[in-house]
Amino acid sequence: MKQLFTLNPYFLKYKYHFVLGLIFVTGSNYFGVLIPQKIREALDLVQEKIVGFKQLSGADKGIMFEELSNSLIWFSITVVGFMILKGILMFYMRQTIIVMSRLIEYDQRKEIFEHLTRMDQSFFKSHKTGDIMARISEDVSKVRNYLGPAVLYAVNMVTLFVMTIYAMLKVDPLLTFYALLPLPLLSISIYYVSKLINQKSTAIQQQLSVLNSTAQETFSGIRVIKSYVKEPQFFQFFSKQSEEFKIRALSLAKVEAWFQPLMILLIALSTLLVVFVGGIQVFEGKLSAGNIAEFILYVNMLTWPVTSIGWIASIVQEAEASQKRINELLEVKPDITNQNQHIYPFFGKTEFRNVTYIYPDTGIKALDNVSFSIEPGQKLAIFGKTASGKSTIGDLMFRIFDVTEGEILIDDKNIKEHNLYYLRQKMGYVPQDVFLFSDTISANISFGVEEKDKNSIQHYAESSAVHDDIMRLPDAYGSMIGERGVTLSGGQKQRIAIARAFMKEPEVLILDDSLSAVDSNTEQKISQYFLSALEGKTSIFITHRANNLLQYDKIIVLENGKLVEEGKHEELIKNNGFYASIYEQQRMTADNTV
Ligand SMILES: Nc1ncnc2c1ncn2[C@@H]1O[C@H](COP(=O)(O)OP(=O)(O)OP(=O)(O)O)[C@@H](O)[C@H]1O
Ligand SMILES: [Mg+2]
Repeated sequence: MKQLFTLNPYFLKYKYHFVLGLIFVTGSNYFGVLIPQKIREALDLVQEKIVGFKQLSGADKGIMFEELSNSLIWFSITVVGFMILKGILMFYMRQTIIVMSRLIEYDQRKEIFEHLTRMDQSFFKSHKTGDIMARISEDVSKVRNYLGPAVLYAVNMVTLFVMTIYAMLKVDPLLTFYALLPLPLLSISIYYVSKLINQKSTAIQQQLSVLNSTAQETFSGIRVIKSYVKEPQFFQFFSKQSEEFKIRALSLAKVEAWFQPLMILLIALSTLLVVFVGGIQVFEGKLSAGNIAEFILYVNMLTWPVTSIGWIASIVQEAEASQKRINELLEVKPDITNQNQHIYPFFGKTEFRNVTYIYPDTGIKALDNVSFSIEPGQKLAIFGKTASGKSTIGDLMFRIFDVTEGEILIDDKNIKEHNLYYLRQKMGYVPQDVFLFSDTISANISFGVEEKDKNSIQHYAESSAVHDDIMRLPDAYGSMIGERGVTLSGGQKQRIAIARAFMKEPEVLILDDSLSAVDSNTEQKISQYFLSALEGKTSIFITHRANNLLQYDKIIVLENGKLVEEGKHEELIKNNGFYASIYEQQRMTADNTV
C-alpha cells in the first residue's frame, strides 16, 4: 500500500466528497437491512393469521381477511419506501465517491502531463513514447479504479457487513454461523479468479498495443512497403500477432466463464445451509418461518460485498503497481532547469569557450574543445560535413542539453545563469527536422505569439517565400496540415518553420540547415529578406552551402567535432582548406547546370 499513500493528499483535497459518500453508503445500507426485517414481520403475520383463520366463522373470516390484506398493503408500501430511499442514497453515494475518483483522475493526469512537459530531451530518449502514453492513460485509469470503485465497495462492504451481521446475530447466532460458513471460500476464490482475469487482461492489452503499433507502422511506412513489395510479409506478421491476440482473448473468456457459476454455487450452498439448519430450528420452535426468509435475504445481500473483497484486493494490487510506475515517472527530475528567476536583458553576444559535448547515451563526442564567439548583431555560419557536430551547437545554445565541459557565455554570463524561459523566448530556433503540428497553417506560423494577427502571419509567410504556395492550397491559410489535412513538401515545411521562427521576432536566430530543401532561386529570395530582417540581430546559420549570399561576419568550419577553420568567406577561400574546396565544387556544379 506504500505506493498508494502518495494519493492521500488528493483524498484530503476531496475530503467532503469522501465523508458525504460515507454517510450516503451507511444510510443506503441501513434501509437495505430494514427490508428483510419487514418481510419477516409480514410473513410471520400471515402465518399467525392462517392458524387463527381456520377456527373462525364465515363473517369473521371476511373481517380478518380485510385486516390482513390492509396490513400486507401497508408492509408493501413500507418495503417499497425503504427500497426507494436505499436507491436514492445509492445514487448519491456514487455521485460523491465515483465523482471524487474522476476528479482525482483528472488532477493526476494533469500533474503527470505537466511534469512530462518539464522533462528534457534525454528523458524522452530513455523513455519510449508508448510507455509514457501507457502510464498517462492505463496506469492512471487503474489507479482510478482504486480511488472510485474499490474505495466505494470497500466502504459499502464494511458497513453492510456490520449491519447485516448485527441483524443476523440478533435473530440467531448459530444460524448466522452456518449462513456465513461458505462465504470466506467465495471471497478467496473470487480473489484468485479476479487476479487471473487481471493478468489475462494485461496480457491482452499488451498484445493490443503490439497490434496497434504494427498497424500504425505499416500505414505510416506504406510507401516504402509498397515500393519494396513487402505487403505479404507485413500481412503475415500482422496475422501472427492477431492470432496471438485471439488466443489470449479466448483464454480470458474461459476464466471469466468461471466467475458467475462459482458465485452462484457458493451462494446456493449458503442458502441450503440456512434452509436446512434453520428448518430444524423452526421445527423445534426456536425460530419462525419468517426468520428463514429474512436470512435468505441477508445471505443474498452479503453476496456482492463478499464477492467484492476478492475483487477489491486485486484492484488494489493493480493500482499499487500502476501508482509505482507513475511515482517513478514523477520522481525523475529534469537535468535542465531554470536556476534563475531574475531576468537579464538580452543582447545576443555569444561565446563558446572550450566546449566539449559527449552524448551520454552513445558516448559520441559530438563537439571537441570548440571555441568561437560572435558579437550582438553579427551573422555566423557553421559549416561542415555531415555528423561534424553542427546541430549539437544549436541544441546547446537552446539548452536542450548542457555542455559536458567548457562553458557557453551569453552576454558574458554563463548560459545557465540566464533565466531559461526568457532565454528561449528571446531565441528563435528552426531545427533541422522540422516539426509542424496537425493544425492550420496560420496556427502553425503564429505558434510563438499570443496575438494571431492575420496580416502579420501573411507578412512572415511572404518573407519566407511560402505565401504563394499557401495560396494554392484549398483553404489557403486555414488548411489543416498533417494526417487529416494537406501534405506539404519538405521545402514548404521548412519555409513555414522559418516564418514561425521569424514571427516570434527573436533577438537571436538559429537556423539549422533550413534552406536545404529549397531551390537556389527561392534561397536567393529568402536570403534577400534575411539580410534586411536580421539587421542588428544575432543569427547563426548552420549550412552545407558554401555561398556567401548572407554576407556572414564569420564562418566556422567543423570536422569531427573540432573547429578546423574560422574567418570570413574571403579569408577561408584564401586558406584553401575544406571550405574552399566545397565552394569550388559547388561553383562548378552551378556553372554546369546553368
Ligand atoms: N541525440 C543524439 N544522441 C546521440 N548521439 C547523437 C545525437 N544527435 C547527434 N548525435 C551524434 O553526434 C554527432 C554529431 O551530430 P550532429 O547532429 O551535431 O551533426 P551535424 O553536423 O548536424 O550533421 P548533419 O549535417 O548531418 O545534420 C553524430 O556522430 C551523431 O551521431
Ligand atoms: Mg545537423
